[in-house]
Amino acid sequence: MTETPNLPIVRTVAALRAHTRLWRERGETIALVPTMGALHEGHLSLVRMARVQADRVVASIFVNPKQFGPKEDFAAYPRDERTDADLLAGERCDLMYAPDPAEIYPPGFSTTVSIGALAQVMDGAARPGHFDGVATVVTKLLTQCAPNVAIFGEKDYQQLLVIRRLIKDLDLQIEALGAPIVRAPDGLALSSRNAYLSPAERQIAATLPMVLNEAARSLTGGRTVAETESLARAALSASGFQKVDYVEVRGADDLSRLGPGPLTGPGRLFAAAWLGKTRLIDNLAV
Ligand code: PAF
Repeated sequence: MTETPNLPIVRTVAALRAHTRLWRERGETIALVPTMGALHEGHLSLVRMARVQADRVVASIFVNPKQFGPKEDFAAYPRDERTDADLLAGERCDLMYAPDPAEIYPPGFSTTVSIGALAQVMDGAARPGHFDGVATVVTKLLTQCAPNVAIFGEKDYQQLLVIRRLIKDLDLQIEALGAPIVRAPDGLALSSRNAYLSPAERQIAATLPMVLNEAARSLTGGRTVAETESLARAALSASGFQKVDYVEVRGADDLSRLGPGPLTGPGRLFAAAWLGKTRLIDNLAV
């Protein structure tokens, strides 16, 4: 593709490092916003947060095959590099890093970064191997770019905690910041996968945040965690979600299971559910 004015696009680690080396030599700080492209307002909010955090902003666009299961939507995942580049240029991003798969996983590549307990529950249990794929690619992106700070959306809250864990365990000198979920006017959390929804599914999808908000209210009102989770599951099924992977209340820092009695301290309420072929996730603080 031709370059977007004011937004250099690099596709190799060497070219990425040529830019970041120059910035570091000048004493400038760097923020990385890792994405899989198909950018929407949620991603752009990450870029805006990055701008506030550092002198230079790099956005990576890489649809990572290793974080998709064999029956998942890797081939169908939306890709529109031209529009992504225009959106990033509009946010005054300094550099777009869009490597080819062979740059990230050259022949012979055989290392996996695997995280313990945090990555075994919820999405880790429902999507075996998913967090190995995320942790492996994020470790590579972080070491390739070596930013001061990296920004991740709180819609993938479990992912944020997994990444913070790997940064700590691997002694990377990078701060991982979480950015608040950006929602459509009807409350649905923005996601590249929302593009898969039919108009009828899109209407049902908006009940996910409604059910979570109602569940949060009843927890605050003293209903037990176990009862709230089971009522929320039933409400999602009644709304038209064909399958509910989980509705769980967990500790916000360590994802420890809270309940089954009433909530005694701050936690996070998580849900994942299917509409046709689309899997939606959401979460909120409780
Ligand atoms: O959240 C995402 O878009 C991806 O999981 C990430 C962090 C870019 C890794 O591929």
